[in-house]
Order: sequence, then C-alpha cells, then structure tokens
Amino acid sequence: MNRESERNHPTPANITTMNKRNAILITGTDTGVGKTLVARGLARALCEKGLKTLAVKPVESGVALESSPNEDGVLLAAATGQDHPTQALTRLTCPVAPPVAADREGVELPFEDWVREIEVLSNQADIVLVEGAGGFLSPLTWEASARDLAKRLEAPALLVVGNRLGCVNHTLLTVEALNRAGIPLVGIILSAVGEEDESFETNADTIRRSSSVERIASLPHVTDWRASLPHLKPVLDWITE
Ligand SMILES: Nc1ncnc2c1ncn2[C@@H]1O[C@H](COP(=O)(O)OP(=O)(O)O)[C@@H](O)[C@H]1O
Ligand SMILES: [Mg+2]
Repeated sequence: MNRESERNHPTPANITTMNKRNAILITGTDTGVGKTLVARGLARALCEKGLKTLAVKPVESGVALESSPNEDGVLLAAATGQDHPTQALTRLTCPVAPPVAADREGVELPFEDWVREIEVLSNQADIVLVEGAGGFLSPLTWEASARDLAKRLEAPALLVVGNRLGCVNHTLLTVEALNRAGIPLVGIILSAVGEEDESFETNADTIRRSSSVERIASLPHVTDWRASLPHLKPVLDWITE
C-alpha cells in the first residue's frame, strides 16, 4: 500500500478498541453540517441502549450572554438528561472561531481544564460524546484544534458531513487529516443539511470508492431530532458492536 492509499485507509474504531476514557469526538467537515443533530440523536440512542452517556461541548461561540435552550451545549445536555454539564464548558458571545471571540472578549481559553473536565466525565459514564466547534482543524484555541483535543483524550472520531455537492473533497481531506494524526475513525455520517442536489444520492458511494472507508451512513432530512434515532442505528452498531 503506498502512502497515499494508507492515508485513506483509516483504522476502524468501536467501544472496545476505542480508548481508556471512552470519549468520542463528534467532528465535522465544516460548521453547520449536522454535528449537534447527530450528537443529540446518538446520545439519546446510547442512553436508550442502557449506556450511561454524557455529551459535552468544550467551547461554544456565538451564544447569548444568558444561556438559551437552542445552543449546542444545552441541546446536548437535554438529549441525555444529564445534570452536568448543562451548557458548553466555555461560552463566548462573538459568532466567530473561539480564539478570535476569546481575544475580542478578553477571555483565556482553558484547554487543559476542558481535557481534565472531560476526563472526569468519562470516569462517570460509559461514553462521553465531545462536540468540537467548526470542522476538524478549526481552532478551539490558538494552540489547539479538535484534532489536538482528540489526541489528548485518545478519542476516536465520528465524522459528520453535510450531504451536498463538494462534500466528497471535504470528506477526503478530513479523513486524510485524521489518518495523519493517528486518530481512529468510528465512521462517517452524511447528513441532509439542506435542499437535495444532484450529488445527494451518490456522495456516500463516491466517498466509499475514493477512500475505502466502509463505515458510511446517511441521515435523511428530519423534521425533529428524535426522528434521527432510527437512522443512527448503523452508528450505534459501529460504536458498540
Ligand atoms: N439531517 C438533517 N435533517 C434536518 N435538519 C438538519 C439535518 N442535518 C442538519 N440539520 C440542520 O442544519 C443545521 C445545522 O446543523 P447542526 O447540527 O447545528 O450543525 P453543526 O453542529 O455541525 O454546526 C441545524 O439547523 C440542523 O437542525
Ligand atoms: Mg453544533
């Protein structure tokens, strides 16, 4: 196998091969691709399977001063019913990347505290889902991205992709970055974020044929997050099989 193809042959991961802390990074090819929707559905599905599941967002920007039911950290907590944390560990109001928002707001971003907090949570749960901010390499701080968080947590990643024209390239780039970082891939889920375009039906197969990633599932457009649960069954199997 040459180097190029090695990069596109990720190591599959499940709960047994995963990591000692049982954290899973929910990452994406972009912002607005369905990470939170998938994380909520998956968290609930894991809870319903009898696994103690916590879902956490280390840092969230673009939130109101007062916590609102629509922000990611709050939605994640509501999906599991957890009483801690009930919102992102660090909240910022500017709707830009966290370190940019933090600079504007004069806030220090406590990456080490996030790692410690997630480690504590993983001792209290069977699985902790960790949603990044933006895409896989989007900065969480000036020093660290979701890639660095996953490496510190020794967490595999579930990659969420917006199912639309252009997503094949974004997916292959992200898979290559995951492989380069040595982060096992749980699988890929293509989420129907918007209007279906001509590529919608073929994207999953195109990614499969271009990357040799076998674990690819699709989430159709759902009108309520709870309707995502049956479609997330393959992801549940990848994690627990
Ligand atoms: N499969 C889907 N069906 C319906 N709406 C979706 C789907 N995937 C994503 N969305 C919607 O797209 C928007 C962005 O999704 P979200 O989960 O917030 O993305 P991210 O967390 O990656 O920023 C939300 O309004 C979400 O409900
Ligand atoms: Mg989100």
